[in-house]
Parts: sequence; structure tokens; C-alpha cells
Amino acid sequence: MSKITAAITAVGSYVPDFVMTNKILETLVDTNDEWITTRTGIKERRILKGEGLGTSYLAIKAAEQLLEKRKLDPKEIDLIIVATATPDMMVAATAAYVGSEIGATNAFAYDLQAACSSFLYGMSTAASYIESGRYKKVLLIGADKMSSIIDYTDRTTCIIFGDGAGAALFEPNTEGLGLQDEYLRSDGVGRNFLKMDAGGSLLPASEETVKNRQHFIYQDGKSVFKFAVTNMADSAAKIMERNNLSHDDVDWLIPHQANKRIIDATSNRMGLEDSKVMMNIQRYGNTTSATLPLLLSDYETQLKKGDNLVFAAFGGGFTWGSIYLKWAYNS
Ligand code: UT7
Repeated sequence: MSKITAAITAVGSYVPDFVMTNKILETLVDTNDEWITTRTGIKERRILKGEGLGTSYLAIKAAEQLLEKRKLDPKEIDLIIVATATPDMMVAATAAYVGSEIGATNAFAYDLQAACSSFLYGMSTAASYIESGRYKKVLLIGADKMSSIIDYTDRTTCIIFGDGAGAALFEPNTEGLGLQDEYLRSDGVGRNFLKMDAGGSLLPASEETVKNRQHFIYQDGKSVFKFAVTNMADSAAKIMERNNLSHDDVDWLIPHQANKRIIDATSNRMGLEDSKVMMNIQRYGNTTSATLPLLLSDYETQLKKGDNLVFAAFGGGFTWGSIYLKWAYNS
């Protein structure tokens, strides 16, 4: 019997309608389009407006698009993982609500949190369930409503992040396609450089924490940048080396969209020309857990069966790594 590998067999995505341009941000904080564009590559990002709409709203839309495209009965799904740093609520899993809303009545569901590496780590988790033979259909959704934890008076963070969601279905494959190798790492030294101080068990919400604006994301951008540049490039280079992939063998780099300068450093290290590098940071900014599946969705029609894809991400924690995957279908 041939070995079972875990392939991505469908993707879907959703971004909200409201476009927050650099020009709009100029009216909120002391910044300008030129600074944001040259330092980050971002021109605009999407923001979810509307009372009572959380991350689940984005996740459900992305999952529904996938189900519709694939003509898949949601009852066939075994497991739903929602990768997110901004769950609807602290305790009740967002994924459970998403599963019920899309009609996945035979699935169990849970959330996975590893900041900007959530989707990358989730790929490892989803693939492991498939490779073991335990489940046949795992839906991995990366979704974040970053606008819910952004301080729109802090120019160092509000220009970077946006809202969005993407979904990928993992299924067994016997042709050797799908996830081939992974190199995943974390280091708790990073927890003070990119964090939300309050609202967790360490510092529960209080009048004080609200007054001190501690329920918003804080980032020491310069330090995170240094770690991200080195580790994203290192892990991508490592996965190529381990799998004897030359720059000619790699068809696509799917890099986390945190900063165009980090993406460029990673692709340069891999020796890749720009045409092989997926990029949509200019339109969506950093959507945290959604960057990788949003890229897959945007570039889906250009992907061919057998293409060699290298995913790379870096995020808070710190968390980072790289995954080598062979694409499994022509759309
Ligand atoms: O996704 C998770 C991982 N996150 C990342 O990978 C993000 C990594 N970090 C970054 O992408 C970058 O560090 C930033 C985009 C956040 C910042 O870019 P930078 O080139 O590192 O800028 P900086 O923090 O060194 O600031 C340079 C200058 C400072 O002014 P002075 O001290 O030189 O006078 C800042 O005050 O730019 C100033 N500045 C701004 N100016 C206009 C900071 N933010 C802004 C702004 N508009 N929005």
C-alpha cells in the first residue's frame, strides 16, 4: 500500500469590504503614505465593521466559499481547526461555532494559537491527522480580526494589521503530493517583544488595564524585525537544503505577509526571482493567521499539480518555521 500524504485539495477566502487606505490612516495618526509604503509595502488593509461581528464571521465566509467551490457537503468534514490570535471569546472555541454555522455536524472543532505562525503550525497539525489515517477531511481556517486589538492612536502598529480569513481543506493523497517536510521552531524569549499585556491569566482585565491601554497589541518593531528577517530566511533555506531543492526546483514561496522587506530578504536568501514569490501585503497588510491561506486563494489559478511550494512564517512568541508542500491539483 502506498504511503498516505496530506494534500490541500481546496481553498477559500474572505476579506471584509471596508478598505482602510494609508490616506485614511494619515487622518488618524502622524504618518504618511510614503513612510508606510517604503517601510512595509502596505497600501491598504481591510477592516471588519459592524456590531457583533467577530473573527468567526470572517472564518465562516471563507469556509463557505471553499465548500461552494468544491461542492462539498459540510457533513463530510471530520475536524475543523481555526488558527487565530483573536478568537470570538477567550473560552468558548471559535471553531466550534464556525463548525455549527457551516453545518459541519459530524465534525469536532478547536482553535490553535501561535500568533502569526498559527496557520503554519495548523498545517502541521491538520496534515498529521490525515497522515495517521485517523481522519479524511480536515478543514484548517486562518482568521483574524486584528482591528479588535489594535490601538488606532499607535502609529507603530495600526498601519500594519488588517482583517481577513482563508481556509484550506486537507485530504489523503496516495500520489506523494501534499506536505513533504516541516521545520518548526519557537522561543519564549520573544514574548515581551510582541504581545497583548492584559486580558489573559497573567494580568486579568481591570479598570487599570483598560485605562493603560493594555488590551491592545504592543510590538517592539525593530527587535521583531531582526528576529523575523533572520529566522524566516534561515528556516526557508533549511527546508530547501534538507530536501535538496535548488532555487530552480522551488515554484513558489508563500511567505507570511508582515513586511515586504522581510519577504524580500527571505526570497533573496532562497535565490528566487520575484515572479515566484506570492505577495498581497499591499492590499491586505498583515492579517496574522490569514496571510498564508489568503495567498493560496489569490494565486490558486496559477498553481499547477506537482508545483513545489515553500511556506515560511514568523510571529509572536516567538514562533516560526517553514513547510515544503507539493501542490495537488489544477484549478
Ligand atoms: O507578523 C508578526 C511579526 N511582525 C513583524 O515581522 C514586524 C516586524 N517589524 C517591522 O515590520 C518594522 O519594524 C516596522 C514596520 C514595525 C517599523 O519599521 P522600522 O523601519 O523598523 O521603523 P522604526 O521602528 O525603526 O522607526 C523609524 C522611525 C522612528 O522615528 P525616529 O526615531 O527615527 O525619529 C519612528 O518613530 O520611524 C518612526 N515611525 C513612523 N513614522 C511615520 C514609526 N512608525 C511610523 C509611522 N509613520 N507609522
